[in-house]
Amino acid sequence: MCGIVGYVGPRPPLQVLIDGLHRLEYRGYDSAGVALVDGSRLSVVKRAGRIADLEEAVAAAEPPEGRVGVGHTRWATHGAPTTLNAHPHTDCTGTVAVVHNGIVENWAELKSELIRRGHRFISDTDTEVIAHLVEEGSDLSLVEAVAEAMKAAEGALALAVVRTDQPGLIVGARRGSPLVVGLGESETFLASDIPAFLSHTRRVVVIEDDRVIEIRDGGVRIFDLDGVEQPLVEKVIEWDLAAAERGGYPTFMLKEIHEQPQAIADTLRGRTADGGVIALRELELPEQILRMVDKVFVVACGTSYHAAMMAKYAIERWTRLPTEIDIASEFRYRDPVLDGRSLVIGISQSGETIDTLAAVRYAKAQRSTVIGVSNVVDSALARESDAVLYTRAGPEIGVAATKTFTTQLVAMQLLGLYLAQVRGTMDPGTIGLLVAELQALPDKVGKVLQTEPQMEDMARRFAQVRDFFFLGRSGDFPVAMEGALKLKEIAYVRAEGYAAGEMKHGPIALVEPGVVVVGVATDSHVRQKTLSNMEEMKARGGTIVMVVEEGTEDEVSGLADEVVVIPQSPDLLCTVTAVVPLQLLAYHIATQRGLDVDKPRNLAKTVTVE
Ligand code: M6R
Repeated sequence: MCGIVGYVGPRPPLQVLIDGLHRLEYRGYDSAGVALVDGSRLSVVKRAGRIADLEEAVAAAEPPEGRVGVGHTRWATHGAPTTLNAHPHTDCTGTVAVVHNGIVENWAELKSELIRRGHRFISDTDTEVIAHLVEEGSDLSLVEAVAEAMKAAEGALALAVVRTDQPGLIVGARRGSPLVVGLGESETFLASDIPAFLSHTRRVVVIEDDRVIEIRDGGVRIFDLDGVEQPLVEKVIEWDLAAAERGGYPTFMLKEIHEQPQAIADTLRGRTADGGVIALRELELPEQILRMVDKVFVVACGTSYHAAMMAKYAIERWTRLPTEIDIASEFRYRDPVLDGRSLVIGISQSGETIDTLAAVRYAKAQRSTVIGVSNVVDSALARESDAVLYTRAGPEIGVAATKTFTTQLVAMQLLGLYLAQVRGTMDPGTIGLLVAELQALPDKVGKVLQTEPQMEDMARRFAQVRDFFFLGRSGDFPVAMEGALKLKEIAYVRAEGYAAGEMKHGPIALVEPGVVVVGVATDSHVRQKTLSNMEEMKARGGTIVMVVEEGTEDEVSGLADEVVVIPQSPDLLCTVTAVVPLQLLAYHIATQRGLDVDKPRNLAKTVTVE
């Protein structure tokens, strides 16, 4: 996720762009840049770091003002967050500048072809191919050249492009990533999100997929990719600026919960090919090493540890490799038996959690191969690992992990299937079926989000409950653990996540009337066993909430006080859908209790102390 802005009008564009970028910083903040067109001159200034760093660079460079400019704040997906990789990107002639939000899936093929045709690349980004594709259309109008580039590029794209031979014009384009236009008096704005220009105008046009737009100070024209002009539908925004930054949601956490379908789709993008082959090109680890591995360790903390729990089941089931999981702060102190044939996977959203970093450093000292799974490109974990697989959730502002958890689950499922593919432990047909099911997850999560009114109503009734248990077996166990952690950390309610079959060995003594027991029973091969355990909770007077898949709700009608139904998915993949109602339950209990869910007490988003 990145933020893009554009401005055409009578004010000096630089300040409008910088203000807009500040408003979009929630979308990414590892580097930033602007391009200004003044007559036939194009000036580009960009910097690694925050927008404040860009402001310093701009002050030093004193670029010309002009009447047209585009800007970008980046959350890296391809290429480290360096000044060179920051946007805007330019073509070989230095007359085209492009800012981009999204992922060009076929960038590697396009880049090879463009290099073969004589283009020179200077960055490691996918975006630079767009600048060179637009350069190829130098004999076309800019809007036509961008339409041709859109046809060549696969994946998600929101673009803003300037070219010096059309100095009063920005061309925008959209497929899959958001783009809105703001209509002012004799000035026009373009951005990834409305807050970027809301202080200037409330009149907006939301751009649809596969559209190219011409933006001038006098207004906007919209075309499809074949150049056919499209109607312009204007609407007026009623929100205030603070609400707009949260996309109209009352909190970042709720916004991030609702961003999960997109985040999961982004994490899958370009990583599966037709016929169900997993293609983790960026892993850059010789397949020979993965074939040699004889044991896997997965280490992580907090929510990331719950993704590790799911990963153990997935890797063992799909590859038959013995897999151990560890809370990172415990790992090195237990003197684990590692060697050169061990694969250690460190999972960390931030990639900066000191316990996880210490664990992977320990593993490297034992000559083990280390794969980092992180949401932050070029994080310490990414740099210190032998290979890295990025989740592409975009920045998460709420302290409680939500979209970064579900994308970690998906990333680990991809990695598990990839290991099975490389090691030949699953037949390609079965991998293909699971890949198709992974592709269906964004829509299914979208459907689960429709349970929100039910979860909100439940939260109203449970807001004063003192004790919760969350129970599950197999793949449902990490979901139960995560449901309990969410409730603890944002609602400050005692909540235990437990293996359903383990309750009878002690904790069942705590179950009595007034205690709420949430059972997750989606994993088909243990569902009946979980239901039996839940009967034991009901017999002790617990209030029973069941999360089950469509088609199995009848099995719990006599057991549950509340039933939450989610779409069917194969075992382990349903972790991704099953956790969403529990995020919503925790969220709404916390808000019922009047708490600040984005900044829960005593917590930090990134934990850099042991
Ligand atoms: O950045 P990391 O994934 O390494 O962070 C690990 C934990 O600190 C984190 O998951 C924490 O538990 C969150 N607050 C959970 O919502």
